[in-house]
Amino acid sequence: MERLQKVIANSGYCSRRKAEEEIKKGHVTVNGKIVVELGTKVDVQDVIEINGTVIKKEENKEYILLYKPREVITSVHDDKGRKTVLDYIDTDTRIYPVGRLDYDTTGLLLLTNDGELANLLMHPKTEIEKVYVAKVKGILTGQEINRLKNGVVIDGRKTSRAKVKVRKVDKKTQTSIVEITIHEGRNHQVKKMFERVGHEVLKLKRERFAFLDLKGLRSGEYRYLTVKEVKKLYALVKHKKDYLK
Ligand code: URA
Repeated sequence: MERLQKVIANSGYCSRRKAEEEIKKGHVTVNGKIVVELGTKVDVQDVIEINGTVIKKEENKEYILLYKPREVITSVHDDKGRKTVLDYIDTDTRIYPVGRLDYDTTGLLLLTNDGELANLLMHPKTEIEKVYVAKVKGILTGQEINRLKNGVVIDGRKTSRAKVKVRKVDKKTQTSIVEITIHEGRNHQVKKMFERVGHEVLKLKRERFAFLDLKGLRSGEYRYLTVKEVKKLYALVKHKKDYLK
């Protein structure tokens, strides 16, 4: 709950002093009732009108970095009753995921209620770098690695250039750990890319999104981004903003 004049001023409608004048003059209603008390407290659900104009309340922006566990759906609600990423976050704000990680994929997921930034970050043209680590069946040949790097056709369209690095090979179990860096965010992209070159993905984790990583977090834990990090994300996409309009 916040004081009425503060909510009006935060909405950008007018200054706090002007809001107080308007309240005293009886020009302000809360849920249809005229309010002249300056100290009146209101909350987010209340409809505030000044001279018949509904003011748009400012909602605080939240930016959260979650280490998504396996078997959690990247959605705000699941009809089948499965755990969603929101089950891990304690907030009353209506945040939603920036992009998607599969049910069985773990790792870094951003959530926010800042629609502008979310849209810019998800847009393929902004080319945000995402680093995944995949455990795959088999051992990749040099040729397969080059195919992944240069782009493979999935769903009828070639993927853009990727960075690929084999981190570890286990000859005994015939599996490999491969780091792959992509800029797009197509549906099941990493799994489909590996499938295309004949290697099934057994495990998948997103380790990095732009300059953000999972340092200091365990699976299921989250933290708020710092103001500096939010500014840095905006700086990354700013030059694309006008171009995407
Ligand atoms: N690519 C995939 O295949 N799955 C994910 O969850 C993310 C990227």
